[in-house]
Formats: sequence, C-alpha cells, structure tokens
Amino acid sequence: MDVVGLRQSWAQLQVAGPEAARYFYATLFTIAPEVRSMFPTNMRYQEDKLLAALGHIVSHVDDERELAGFTRRLGADHRRFRGADRQGRAVPLAQGHYRWVGQALLATLERFLGPRWTPGLRADWTAAYEVVTRLMLAGAADAELSSPPLWEAEVLRVQRRRADVCVFTVRPNYLCEYLPGQSLPVQVPQLRLWRYLSPANAPRADGTIEFHVRATGRFSTYLVRRLRVGDQVLLGSPTGTALSSYGRSPHLRLLLVAGGTGLAPLRAVVEALRAEPRPTTLVVGGRTPDDLYDDAAVWELAGASGWLRYVPTVQTAWRWSGAVGTAGDTAVRLGPWRDTDVLVCGSPQMTRETIGALVASGVAAQRILAEVYDHCQYPPLAGQAAAAVRDFSGTGVR
Ligand code: HEM
Repeated sequence: MDVVGLRQSWAQLQVAGPEAARYFYATLFTIAPEVRSMFPTNMRYQEDKLLAALGHIVSHVDDERELAGFTRRLGADHRRFRGADRQGRAVPLAQGHYRWVGQALLATLERFLGPRWTPGLRADWTAAYEVVTRLMLAGAADAELSSPPLWEAEVLRVQRRRADVCVFTVRPNYLCEYLPGQSLPVQVPQLRLWRYLSPANAPRADGTIEFHVRATGRFSTYLVRRLRVGDQVLLGSPTGTALSSYGRSPHLRLLLVAGGTGLAPLRAVVEALRAEPRPTTLVVGGRTPDDLYDDAAVWELAGASGWLRYVPTVQTAWRWSGAVGTAGDTAVRLGPWRDTDVLVCGSPQMTRETIGALVASGVAAQRILAEVYDHCQYPPLAGQAAAAVRDFSGTGVR
C-alpha cells in the first residue's frame, strides 16, 4: 500500500474544506437514506468530524499499533449510535453501515481529486478503509463483553447556580467507570444531540455523577433552562487521556488551573487525590466573583484537607479581598512551579493563554496537561501534534 500516496491525496481533499464534507454526507444519505435519521438535523456540529477522523486514520494506516488503539476505541464508542431496521427498530452498527460510509468516502475522493484519482489510489484507499472497518468492528465486539453501548441515567438533582450555569447529578442504570479528568458524551433524548461533559466528582460507590454546564449553545442552554429531576439522559463511553494522567508523577506537586466550568474535571481530580494526597494548588478564575459558581463546594474540599490550597481569582471586583487577575497570571504569581505537574482546563482561549503564561514563566511545556481536540474526542495518534485545544468554555468541561 502506498501510504505516501494516501497522505497526499488526503491533503488534496482537505483543500476542498467543508465542501468535501457536505458532498460526503449528501452522497452517504443518497446511497443509504436510512442512515439520515442517525445524524442530527443540523449537521453544523458534526460537520466534517466523521470524514476528518476517517481520512486522518486512513492516512496513518502504516502505524499499526497506534492505529489499532485509536480505531478500536472509536468503534467501541460508536456502539452508542444505533441504526434502524425496516421496521424502525434500533440495530447496532454493522458491516453494511461501514460499506455505505466507505462508498461515500471513495465517491468524495473521486469527485475532489479529479484526474489525480487513479485506479491504484482507489485500490489503496479501499484496502486502508477495510482495515479501519475491521478494527472498529472488532473494537465494538470486544467492548460488548465489558460495558454497555450506552448508559441510561436518571436526573436526581438540578441546581441553577446562576442564570446561565447549572449543576446536575445523574444516576446511570449501570456503574459507568470513568477516570477523574475524563469526559463522557451526553445526550438529552429530546434534542438527540451528543455533547461532551466532564464529571465533577471522582467515581462514587453509588455511581452518581455530577456535571457542570454553562449555557453557550443549544444543548447547554437546554440543560440550564429545561432539565428537571426525573428526566433521562444518555451517557456514552468515557474518553480523554490528558487530565486523567494527573497521577503520572506522584512525587511531584500539582498545580490545577481552571476557568469557568473547566473546574469540573479538576474538581474530580481533587476528590480523587483525597485517597493519595499530595501538595496541590487549585486556581479558579472568573471575570467577577459571580463566575465562581462552585466556590462554596471547593472551599469545603480545601478546608477538610491539609494538602489543598484553593485560590479563587477574579479580574474585576468590588470589595473582593482575594487574588486579582486571570487564572494564568495568578498561577504564575504563586510560582515558581519547579517539580510540579500542571493541569489546565477552560475555554480554548483561557487554556492557550494560561499555558503561554506558564511556559513564559519557566514551566516546562511537557509538565503541562490539557485535553486536546484531534478530529474527535479520542487520544491522538502517536506523533501527531495537538491540533487545537478542545472547547471547554460551556458544557461541563467547558
Ligand atoms: C469507518 C469509519 C468511521 C469513522 C472514522 C467515524 C468517525 C466518527 C467521529 C470522529 C465522530 C464524532 C464523535 C463525537 O464527537 O462524539 C462520529 C460520529 C458519528 N458517526 Fe462515525 N465514524 C465512522 C463510521 C461510521 C458509520 C459506519 C456510521 C453509521 C452509518 C457512523 C455514524 C456516526 C454517527 C451517527 C455519529 C454521531 C453524529 C452526531 O450525533 O453528531 N459512523 N464518527
């Protein structure tokens, strides 16, 4: 298989941008109208995620070990997307669904590569796609032995902390095993949209999970305004490897820097640290004190521990006796941070600025952990630079 040819043709397709994604979906829905209902009516969020991940994977097809890890996890997670049979009953994704997606992919490549689309290239893409399909289906089959395709969860408690922020607790029907710092795809059946939220608590014996949401889009606004006790939500498989690696050097101190509801996964980490305490500083930034929607809970955590220093910081305030400045600036002022692992979580802008300020102050970049976005929410393939910091500005981790 000519991997260089695959990569080059993928780069050529990328030049077409969103047009290629639109063509891909239009073709897919023409070949297989039955899959249309699996995707949201408004495809803006999905955009080119499937296609981008697909092309990315296929063009990394020579790195067998990494490819297998990535695609098997993706396949396992795809168990939450159900097709429908002729009677409209939900069915798991099967070979046939993958065949349709493969046909749409090849048609898209052919359309946008024009004369550069040769029979040799077609054979290579076909072979690479078959490898991906096999791995995704194998990942799904293996996961079936250990976890449900998704969890149904009942909303037990909803607290509106501000007009645009809510904290809610759910109880999944089976124990959902996640690592502190990870996030979960969440769907409200009424909207049929999947978005990622990060548990704000370490796993509990009773399985309940707390989420923090700020209203920024349709999904998060629905949760903040309409979610009620007794509602049902669906949860998919936990994902994310950066923040959950907080234990990688247990002999080091920890600095946790949060902006807005980016506090959620860091609070889960703090809760988990109670079992193995180590000197930890948690800086939580807001524009005004009103943004510190979880202040009381965090003070309570810090008060009960001899190892956690909590530093809320705001940019503007009237009669505020605490730290003043962005989370990043305050974190830098509290340094130097030698022999410290640093976790950062907030909006992409906050995360970028915080990492920039910390690195400029002398913190080694490899000591900083922040979740990254790479076409989808799965760990990046080896050697791939982080494409962009995930948007943690609104929902749960946001
Ligand atoms: C073979 C390669 C495939 C790859 C690489 C792939 C990749 C992806 C990725 C990265 C996402 C976004 C996940 C997220 O943000 O949570 C996604 C979502 C999705 N995929 Fe796939 N996918 C593949 C095959 C399929 C197939 C065969 C189907 C079924 C026909 C399918 C149906 C879906 C659906 C329904 C969504 C969710 C759309 C939404 O609600 O936003 N995928 N896929």
